[in-house]
Amino acid sequence: MRSIFIAVLILVCTGCARQIETVTIPSAGQQAVAMPDTFSADAAMAVLAEGGNAVDAAITAQFVLAVTYPEAGNIGGGGFMTLSINGQADFLDYREMAPGAAHRDMYLDEQGHVHPYESLFGAKASGVPGTVAGMWEAHQKYGSLPWSRLVQPAVDLAEQGFVVPEHLAGRISRYLARVQKQGLFSNFGDYFAHATANSVFSQPELAETLKRIRDQGRNGFYDGETARIISSYMQQNGGLITAQDLASYEAKWRTPITHTWRGYTVITAPPPSSGGVAVVQWLGMMEPWLESLPEHNSSQYIHLLSEVGKRVFADRAEYLGDPDFVEVPVQALTEPAYLAKRSSEVNPDAISVTEDIAPGLYESEDTTHFSIVDRWGNAVANTTTINLSFGAGVVVSGAGFLLNDEMDDFSAKAGVPNFFGAIGGTANEIQPFKRMLSSMTPTIVLKGRDVALVTGSPGGTTIISSVTQSVLNTLVYDMTAQAAADAPRVHHQLWPKDTIRHHSGLDASTLEELERLGYTLDNRSFGDLHLITATVDGMDAASQSSGRGKAIVNPAQ
Ligand code: DON
Repeated sequence: MRSIFIAVLILVCTGCARQIETVTIPSAGQQAVAMPDTFSADAAMAVLAEGGNAVDAAITAQFVLAVTYPEAGNIGGGGFMTLSINGQADFLDYREMAPGAAHRDMYLDEQGHVHPYESLFGAKASGVPGTVAGMWEAHQKYGSLPWSRLVQPAVDLAEQGFVVPEHLAGRISRYLARVQKQGLFSNFGDYFAHATANSVFSQPELAETLKRIRDQGRNGFYDGETARIISSYMQQNGGLITAQDLASYEAKWRTPITHTWRGYTVITAPPPSSGGVAVVQWLGMMEPWLESLPEHNSSQYIHLLSEVGKRVFADRAEYLGDPDFVEVPVQALTEPAYLAKRSSEVNPDAISVTEDIAPGLYESEDTTHFSIVDRWGNAVANTTTINLSFGAGVVVSGAGFLLNDEMDDFSAKAGVPNFFGAIGGTANEIQPFKRMLSSMTPTIVLKGRDVALVTGSPGGTTIISSVTQSVLNTLVYDMTAQAAADAPRVHHQLWPKDTIRHHSGLDASTLEELERLGYTLDNRSFGDLHLITATVDGMDAASQSSGRGKAIVNPAQ
């Protein structure tokens, strides 16, 4: 029932701050953006051209995407930002948190079964949004242009409207048809039905909310009029978020995971993301197998990626959760000796038995991402989400924005998979004010102090595969940014058993060989990479061709 509902519902799974002191980093001098749509790309590049830094451009892009990319861009959701500023790594967690009234069994019925859609649809599916607090914090610490300047492009696009791309119109009409067919209550159509291809679509309520954010900063969302509208919407629609939950929300600066790998420094997302640990594990366990440089996307290479992936996801299910609530053994899980041992258990010629892949320690569709590099060589990788396409499918009436359905990223019941098939235990069970485990993995790779790669993708648990393979494609297989974004990718997450999800474009003989090895193949593509790499000729930026992204590299004026 749950999976049927999901299949039907889901369309695509799918005041001025202190100036930072900027130093010139060798190989910089250009500025680059790789964005999920043209509106965010143009607005972010305009900020950089005006002398803004990568964080300024990220703030503008985030708010623009809340207007022009409603399936994932948001002010009603959350995300993670990985930063390299003057060569210093930093990480901002603006993930949603469970409301104070949330509890472990809130999505179970009287028989103890997980309710098929309560964590995915409607007000009760929403965690307390973190995006506005996150952007405000980023600006306080690193912003250089005035906050109001950075929010204004989003206000203009919401107030005056924008020409709806066909890609977006298609997603909206398919989503509407499915919600209607399912007979679910949603006010989605009231807000989005007239966003048809090539028409000018304005969002007056959202424009007013953005103006309050522009003029009052963080308080324009978590306090006053917007907070009042959100909490009364929640009360009327069975949601749990209160004015107090909103007032108490905090975006948090955390120490990113930094890991040395093949002469590079990988800077990536710590818990409550599972993604950084997973990508570092995946890269680390692949390392010995890369010595012979297996042919890219050969059956041998895909088998090795899959065997490693199974081990990564076994650890994820057991150990990962919100570090403010559970102790996550990040150090132990990313220790080179541990990774070498796990890697040595891989049989390069045969599939290991799924049930035997236990967590290793102690022996016992839609999100969006953008990447930015400024003229000083500062980098921002930012992944943001309302979970599935169009989040909880409901708009906060009077405030004009879509709510997230991020509560589904918790483990509603131990051992029962969430939408992305991720299984979790107590580490990721629901508790008041806890952050749900994420797979979002905004990642920056440095060579010395220089940016070598900025990368990230949507895709739930497949994010981890997309990011890992974007690192391998660029830094091991020497692909251009565009080739790396578009090369067919594979994903294996332990369960379903021996199943490889893959993009089209792999050789028929490779697929035959994988089937001969015993794999089940699931041909459903995933992800939307937006990445920037450094080459001897300068920055190279690309957005995956299947999306509606846009990448720009410009010389600084
Ligand atoms: O945080 C997470 O891992 C998920 N909520 C991300 C959702 C996502 O990427 C949907 N995209 N297809």
